[in-house]
Amino acid sequence: MKEFKNRVAVVTGGASGLGYAMCERFAREGMRIVMADISGPHLEDAAAGLRAGGAEVLAVACDVSKWEEVLALAAATKQKWGGAHIVCNNAGVRTMTRIWETSIEDWRWAVGVDLWGVIHGVRAFLPDMLARGEPGHIVNTASTAGFITARMNAPYAVSKSGVIALSETLYNELRHDKLPVSASVLCPGTVRTRLRENSAKLVPSGAPVAPHPAGKLPNERSPQEVAEMVFDAIRNDRFWILTHASVHDDIERRAESIIRTGAVVSAN
Ligand SMILES: NC(=O)c1ccc[n+]([C@@H]2O[C@H](COP(=O)([O-])OP(=O)(O)OC[C@H]3O[C@@H](n4cnc5c(N)ncnc54)[C@H](O)[C@@H]3O)[C@@H](O)[C@H]2O)c1
Repeated sequence: MKEFKNRVAVVTGGASGLGYAMCERFAREGMRIVMADISGPHLEDAAAGLRAGGAEVLAVACDVSKWEEVLALAAATKQKWGGAHIVCNNAGVRTMTRIWETSIEDWRWAVGVDLWGVIHGVRAFLPDMLARGEPGHIVNTASTAGFITARMNAPYAVSKSGVIALSETLYNELRHDKLPVSASVLCPGTVRTRLRENSAKLVPSGAPVAPHPAGKLPNERSPQEVAEMVFDAIRNDRFWILTHASVHDDIERRAESIIRTGAVVSAN
């Protein structure tokens, strides 16, 4: 995509962290912003914050794990501004329990948001984007957890590796048919956001999710730095958005262990 002014960007999980930074970055290009997030004052506050900077913002309360709500989000986007050009399927949550202690309700919740949220977003928006025939781009937020697992976070890793597989397939299908919409997958390492705090408030079982450690972590990036990488990938049509060089070693270590040593590697 090369033209951004007055085009429409939809960002799920847009009221906080990476999603909010993406909204800000797209707004700087003169894009119209559809900010989607679960309902609550934080959504209206975030939308007001973006509008204060001069952006045109449609705030839509939407639980991405619910197909009807994502369909309604796509319909609201179409009705307000004629449809989406960029869709960032970015809403996410995490858990912090062992696999056998994670309740089925928490599994359904986390996979519902982290994986089904992305499936819903692609399925609800892409047919209309293709029918309109204009250049467009879908960015799905995965994680380095999609490449290398870590203990105490299985629903997240399961979902994020699924998001990577879905995104690679999507990219290839769009390319194969020479369609004007492209795709990227965002695989961040550690970014300072409220992911843990927000997840702790939402997790159905109330199982603890420890807050982000205080103080700057080594290699930690800001949401704004990552949003810049996302915008650059859209402008230059790059599929992989790897925010941290350290993941290169993790990917090599995992591939090496699968092919040669038979070890099972973990991030922790
Ligand atoms: N922060 C990191 O270190 C990190 C690393 C890798 C990947 N990610 C991914 O980045 C994405 C954004 O997370 P973040 O770090 O900005 O966290 P965040 O908590 O600041 O933002 C996530 C947003 O998603 C929203 N959300 C949660 N459940 C939702 C639902 N059912 N429907 C709609 N919105 C919902 C939350 O309300 C919140 O506004 C997530 O997919 C996360 O997995 C984050």
